[in-house]
Amino acid sequence: MAENILVDQNAPKALKYEQLIPQIKALIGDEKRAVSVLSNTAAAIHQAFDLLWTGFYLKDDDILYLGPFQGPVACMRINVGNGVCGTAMAKNETIVVPDVDQFPGHIACSTLSKSEIVVPIRNKAGEVFAVLDLDSATLSNFDQVDRDYLEQICDWLGGYIFSE
Ligand code: SME
Repeated sequence: MAENILVDQNAPKALKYEQLIPQIKALIGDEKRAVSVLSNTAAAIHQAFDLLWTGFYLKDDDILYLGPFQGPVACMRINVGNGVCGTAMAKNETIVVPDVDQFPGHIACSTLSKSEIVVPIRNKAGEVFAVLDLDSATLSNFDQVDRDYLEQICDWLGGYIFSE
């Protein structure tokens, strides 16, 4: 197993994702256990980019529970509909927040967080069972490139975890 994720830090963001995605798939190999797959995916994304927090929240009934992550300790539970994560879950859509202070109901797990992107992960039926949350200490850190590639990663994760 490779010890590190190798991404050219001087490359444009899209190229970093192009380098990262095959490494995530290679790292996971044929492992199907969700907690293991999500743990290494969080670690790989976190290593590739200069992020404050990278992780997953997993839905059970109407609550999102803290899942595998990298970064500072975080809120354990988020109600569906609350915060950026709960809103992305309820709306079943990606939310990009350039300035967390401007998002009504944003849940500040860390005062260092300035911008955020939350991407839903769906099962085969199209129901959201988890979200991927990236937090940055920089304002407006996330853009359409992040949205496109993170949605690609999350679509792959959902299909992969629920395959067979
Ligand atoms: N800011 C998120 C909460 C999760 S932490 O950022 C890790 C939200 O508003 O849903």
